[in-house]
Amino acid sequence: MHVTRLDLRNLRNLADVSLRPGPGLNLFLGPNGAGKTSVLEGLHLLAYGRSFRGRVRDGLIRTGQDAVEAFAEWRIEGDEGQHRAGLRHSGGGWEARLDGESVDHLGQLCAALMVVTFEPGSHALVSGGGEPRRRFVDRGLFHVEQGFLPVWRRYSRALKQRNALLKSRAGTAQISAWDQELSASGEELTRRRVLYLERLQERLAPVATALAPSLGLMSLEFEPGWRRSSLSLADALAVARERDQMLGHTSVGPHRADWKLRLADKSEGEALSRGQAKLAALSCLFAQAADCAAERADWPLIALDDLASELDAEHRARVMDFLHGTPAQVFVTGTDRLEASGEMAVFHVEQGCVEPA
Ligand SMILES: Nc1ncnc2c1ncn2[C@@H]1O[C@H](COP(=O)(O)OP(=O)(O)O)[C@@H](O)[C@H]1O
Ligand SMILES: [Mg+2]
Repeated sequence: MHVTRLDLRNLRNLADVSLRPGPGLNLFLGPNGAGKTSVLEGLHLLAYGRSFRGRVRDGLIRTGQDAVEAFAEWRIEGDEGQHRAGLRHSGGGWEARLDGESVDHLGQLCAALMVVTFEPGSHALVSGGGEPRRRFVDRGLFHVEQGFLPVWRRYSRALKQRNALLKSRAGTAQISAWDQELSASGEELTRRRVLYLERLQERLAPVATALAPSLGLMSLEFEPGWRRSSLSLADALAVARERDQMLGHTSVGPHRADWKLRLADKSEGEALSRGQAKLAALSCLFAQAADCAAERADWPLIALDDLASELDAEHRARVMDFLHGTPAQVFVTGTDRLEASGEMAVFHVEQGCVEPA
């Protein structure tokens, strides 16, 4: 898919920006504080229904203005029509429209427009806690498997109920009544995650070779959230019940799942440099984009904030060559021109204005 138009109004320092990005690589250049990251933030908002830089009230709306607005038009591979979505937040909540209809669940936007974003927090994919890694897997699944969201919702609902009962010190019979629903949906959720990570691992191999051969072979190791090799989830919940009653929450299960990236040439616990961590995280994101492309016959958009930072010239060129080799539409920000071959559309960003170079 590729965006043919992106309008952003009153988003941080962007007062009124209207862009016509090219179908391939788009480079946004400008000095610090010009508004480059805010452009990607606007695109990300439309695809995720939230920013990667905190909540709305943390300064998303331009100072002195009432509302932030984002609007995009895009085309999908193999589909004649043009799609469009708009979002507006005036302090109270989000209002969204998709293809002319109002949307009551921002998830509908997420399903329509897929953007894979590398932002300053994306290092967490390899170095942070489990939460961003679980979200990464679930988001990838959400985009390629229609049946995933209902399973995820079923599990989340059951978990919420069980936790509420544990918190209110309900009796054992009441708590175990939820164990069956939790384990049925949790086993299914886990089965899908396992298959997804196996597939992602295959997608990752060629990406990692292209981006960072010096890091050696990368593999993904899944941690389901309980001792799955020896226990069913139902048994694990039963074993943990007494402890859960003391803790007041469910201590085992898919909500505790995680995965780790293992590098063939690094022993566990050996810290990666910031640049190496960035290359590893980029590899995972590109593998996810490639997976989506293969499963849906359409590449998602790829947005890379400050691509050049922390990468040496060789690795910058490797990343750019990889992107040029895909049909994906890419948005890259930077302070300096990237020494890369191939065509790209360049935009200058200065004091909240964005103009084609
Ligand atoms: N709510 C706001 N109203 C107006 N300006 C803001 C707001 N929030 C942030 N800014 C300013 O927006 C500018 C753009 O930031 P950013 O997009 O991160 O720039 P860049 O990525 O080009 O370095 C910064 O100068 C910042 O001070
Ligand atoms: Mg920036």
